[in-house]
Amino acid sequence: MVDLQTLPDKGADMADPNRLILTAALEWTLAMGADAVVADVAVDWLAADATAPGRDFDLAGASEAVVVAHDRDGSAMPDTYSTAARSARPGGASNAPQIKPARPAGPPAPLRKFTASVPDGAIAAAKAAARQATSLEDLQRSLTTFEGCSLKATAKSVCFYRGAAQAPLMVIGDTPGRDEDMEGRPFVGPAGNLLDRILAAAGWTENDVHIANLIYWRPPGNRPPTQLELDSCRPFLERQIELVSPRALLILGQAAAKHILRTDEPILKIRGRWQTLAIGDLNVPVIASLHPTYLVRTPIAKRQVWLDILSVREVLKGRST
Ligand code: URA
Repeated sequence: MVDLQTLPDKGADMADPNRLILTAALEWTLAMGADAVVADVAVDWLAADATAPGRDFDLAGASEAVVVAHDRDGSAMPDTYSTAARSARPGGASNAPQIKPARPAGPPAPLRKFTASVPDGAIAAAKAAARQATSLEDLQRSLTTFEGCSLKATAKSVCFYRGAAQAPLMVIGDTPGRDEDMEGRPFVGPAGNLLDRILAAAGWTENDVHIANLIYWRPPGNRPPTQLELDSCRPFLERQIELVSPRALLILGQAAAKHILRTDEPILKIRGRWQTLAIGDLNVPVIASLHPTYLVRTPIAKRQVWLDILSVREVLKGRST
């Protein structure tokens, strides 16, 4: 791997115009957010058509997807519809998903205008694909072929999980960074290093935990994921939690806590408090704590994380808090 941070020394041979041009191009690339070379051949994005990566995907797999129509004011309609989706190509009205009432019997539902947008389609497709997975291998295969999250276009790998397939404790961070994208495994950079040391202090190795993230692909330049990116990954994450079926979930950091617990409360306020996360028939105790990246900058906060880890240990031992 070439690290773009180690740019050529401009002072070395300023007389060579090619060197100057190449250095300027590298500097521009770096300023645009690229920080690693991930392949030998560059992708010519200008040669692609005008469709944004990930938008123009086939919804065939979403034929059984359940979507809930929304009123104009955003409130969910009482009826649930199943999509007879074929493909949702932007702008192609004849290709738009067809919506059929799930229960044809009974009085006809009031006519509502409903157009499944591509974001709705991406989430419906994610739900359908995730629901079909009966093992982690299935789920990984689904993620590999899923085209509903545009992050896939710029990431090198699917970052699925690290550690044990089945584990009493599942740890969830936010997004893969550069190291994770290169290796295709969550938490393998400096934050992961600290996480491993925290887990080791509690007596756990990688084989005792299942480590994952909210998002399966690295956002370019480590930008925060968009709501649509989060929402299109969530069905896979929920299925992953069901398949791992942990006895406790440890959520790391504000972003993960906000998305999983659907709260806007600051992490410093909600950390250390046990709640229950319901996914289908599964009810799993969940606790949020501080993110290792925060601890790298704020070592004094390690004390709070240690209290949370002790609490997790008690719960796993069956001594509930
Ligand atoms: N690396 C990850 O995989 N997840 C994080 O949340 C941070 C770093």
